[in-house]
Amino acid sequence: MPNIAVLGTQWGDEGKGKIVDFLAEKADIVARFQGGANAGHTVVFGKEQFILHLLPSGALHPGKVCVIGNGVVVDLEQLFREVEELKVRGYDLTGRLFISGRANLVLPYHKMIDRLSDSGKGDEALGTTFRGIGPAYVDKVNRLGVRVSDIFEREALEARLNLTLVFKEDFADRSEDKKAFDRDYLLNSLLSYGDRLAPLVCDTSFLLLEAIEQDKNILFEGAQGALLDVDFGTYPYTTSSNTSVGGIFTGLGIPPAALHETIGIAKAYNTRVGNGPFPTEETGETGDRLRERGNEFGATTQRPRRCGWLDLVALKYTARINGVNKLALTKLDVLDEFAEIKVCTSYRINGAEMKNFPDELRHWESCEPIYQTLPGWQSPTSGLTSWGKLPQNARDYISFIEKFVGVPVNLVSTGVSRREIVRRS
Ligand code: GDP
Ligand code: IMO
Ligand code: MG
Repeated sequence: MPNIAVLGTQWGDEGKGKIVDFLAEKADIVARFQGGANAGHTVVFGKEQFILHLLPSGALHPGKVCVIGNGVVVDLEQLFREVEELKVRGYDLTGRLFISGRANLVLPYHKMIDRLSDSGKGDEALGTTFRGIGPAYVDKVNRLGVRVSDIFEREALEARLNLTLVFKEDFADRSEDKKAFDRDYLLNSLLSYGDRLAPLVCDTSFLLLEAIEQDKNILFEGAQGALLDVDFGTYPYTTSSNTSVGGIFTGLGIPPAALHETIGIAKAYNTRVGNGPFPTEETGETGDRLRERGNEFGATTQRPRRCGWLDLVALKYTARINGVNKLALTKLDVLDEFAEIKVCTSYRINGAEMKNFPDELRHWESCEPIYQTLPGWQSPTSGLTSWGKLPQNARDYISFIEKFVGVPVNLVSTGVSRREIVRRS
C-alpha cells in the first residue's frame, strides 16, 4: 500500500473517520498532523460506535501504530480520557501510541479564552467548538506555548507558565473559572501526567522517517476540511490550522515525496457546523430532510449541522489545491429518497457568473449558487458494496461529479459501518 493522505474536502464531517478506519486495515501507521480535539471522527463496526477526537482512527485496529504529530494541539485530559475509554472497550494502545514532544498543549486557559473570544465577536462569532484550538495555535505561533516535552522539566515548565500567563491577565480577570489561569494548579496538574505521558513521547518525525525508509505504509489522517483551512478556507470562518495537504509535512516533519496518494473525502451533499459562508445551504424542508436522513448532528458539539446540496465549484477547488487524485464519496444513501438532486456548478456574484471559488469574504455576501438538476434514483443504496448494484441514476450522479472535478471516485460509502462501502479499482 502507498502512503495515503485522507483529507476532508468540505467543511469537515465528510466521513474521514470511517474511511481512515476502512483503509487502516492495510496500513502500519495512522498519523494525525493538525487540529486537536475539535475533530470528531466516527467509526462504526458491528454494533459498536466510537467517536475519536484526538486519537487517530487507526486506534481501533489492534496492532496499528498511532502517531500524534507536532502539528496537533494536544489536550492531555481529553487524550487520556480517550485512551482509557478505548481500553475499557478492549482496545489497548500500550506500546503503539506515540506523541510528538514538539506538539503544543491545549491548556484549560485556552478553552476559556476560546469561549470568551468567540462570544466577544458578537455577530461575527465563528461558533467554534470551544476546544481551545485557536488560542493554542496563537500561543504556538507567538512562541508562548507549552509543549509536550516541557512537562518533564519542572523548572522549565514553571518558567513557561509564568511567562505565558502574564499575557493572559485580561482574560483571567474576565473568566469565571479562575483555576484555568492559576499557575500552581496548572503546574501540578501538568506534572501529574508525567508518568503516563513519558512512554508515549518521542520524536515522531524521526519515527516516521525511519518507517518511510523501511517501506512501512502510512495513512495521514486529516481533521476538519479544506474549506476550514486557515489560509484556503472561508477565512475568517475557518479553524486555525492548515487542514489541507501542506499541513502534513509541517505537522509531521516528513518530506512531500513520502506522500504517494491523496484521497479527498466528500459527502454526496454539503454540511457545515458553525457560522460562515455556505452558498448551497438549504434552510427549509430540503435541509431538514438531509439533516434527518444523514443524522447531521455534530460528533463533538452535538450541534445540528447546516445542510445543502453538493457544491462542485468548492469541491473542484479543494481537490486542486490538495492534489487529490482519488475521491471517496460518502453518505450516498442519504440521497436515496430524493426525486431530484441539485449540484452547484457555478456561482452568481454581483450579477456575474463565476466558475472559480472566491478568495475574498466580501464576494460571499452576494454569492448565489447556479445549479444543475439531476434525476434521483429513489431506491435504497444503503449497505450496497458493488458498483454494478448501484442504481443507474446513482452511478450517473457519481460520473457527473468525476467529470466535473476531473478526479475519479474510487470509494463510495453507503452506510455508517466499516463494510458498507463500494470499492472501484
Ligand atoms: P468525520 O469528522 O469526517 O470523521 O465525520 P463525522 O464522523 O463527524 O461525521 C460523519 C457521520 O456520517 C458519522 O455519523 C458517520 O457514522 C456517518 N457516515 C459516514 N459514512 C456514511 C455513509 O456512507 N452513510 C451514512 N448514512 N452515514 C455515514
Ligand atoms: P472534523 O475533523 C466540522 C468548525 C467549528 C467552527 C470552526 C472553528 O470532525 O471534520 P475551532 O474549534 O476549530 O476553532 O472552530 O471550525 N470545526 C469543524 N466543523 N468538523 C470538524 O472537525 C470541525 N472542527 C472545527 O464548528 O465553525
Ligand atoms: Mg467530525
